[in-house]
Amino acid sequence: MARISAGVGCSHVPAIGVAVDQGLTEDDYWRPVFKGFEKSREWMAEQNPDVVFLVYNDHCTAFDASCIPTFALGCAAEFHPADEGWGPRPVPVVKGHPELASHIAQSVILDEFDLTIMNEMEVDHGLTVPLTVMFDQPEEWPCPVIPLAVNVVQYPPPTGNRCFQLGKAIRRAIDTYQEDLNVVIFGTGGMSHQLQAERAGLINSDFDKQFLDLLTEDPVKGSKITHLEYLREAGSEGIELVMWHVMRGALDEKVTEVHRHYHVPASNTAVGHIILENHSA
Ligand code: DHB
Ligand code: FE
Repeated sequence: MARISAGVGCSHVPAIGVAVDQGLTEDDYWRPVFKGFEKSREWMAEQNPDVVFLVYNDHCTAFDASCIPTFALGCAAEFHPADEGWGPRPVPVVKGHPELASHIAQSVILDEFDLTIMNEMEVDHGLTVPLTVMFDQPEEWPCPVIPLAVNVVQYPPPTGNRCFQLGKAIRRAIDTYQEDLNVVIFGTGGMSHQLQAERAGLINSDFDKQFLDLLTEDPVKGSKITHLEYLREAGSEGIELVMWHVMRGALDEKVTEVHRHYHVPASNTAVGHIILENHSA
């Protein structure tokens, strides 16, 4: 049977992708950001997942204001990196896993979570930057990736609890897939940041660290953080953190935190990263 062995939480700051693509990772500004992912890349190589299930948000790239699905599951055979204004990032095409994705769609929708099924979708920095920080710059991504795009762009995004419960439904789906696959789930976005209006530039390290602590130790409490608290404490774009609860909901109640990295600043945000291993895997 398939199983989820671990969860990865990480930021998706677009400038991190630019730093890699332009060979700037050894610059003074970027070195400490990438230092914190060295262990993660080793861990990832050891883990050697068969599939990555990647929860992220689209930034008005695949979807514009005419259509904003709350949860959109990528069931296609491949997902091309989108042109976000400067040409597509020079990263490999993302290969999907249509068979597992269709199984997840069936299981999760019959479990009463009404996903949107995407048979064609371009992917932006929300998905490609986490792959870059975890896998570096391979010719091809080392395994298929199933994207799940979550609306955090237009109010109202889903609640943390809804995301957490969806994670549990995704776990039930993967646990019932016949093939023996090692799946690693990513929850991406965040951490605290605000890109607009009077509080642009806001970073709240105390909140971010507490969020990471809760994720490991008391995920149910973490999943109850309200939209208002995210807005007040983590800034308007800090709401991206709700996506980490999908990842956490898909893991065991008790997990082992094998790695954490936190660094300020990277562009307008704090970079946050955590790796949690399931005990049951
Ligand atoms: C930045 C962060 C994001 O999450 C994003 O989607 C765009 C920009 C930033 O920090 O610059
Ligand atoms: Fe973002």
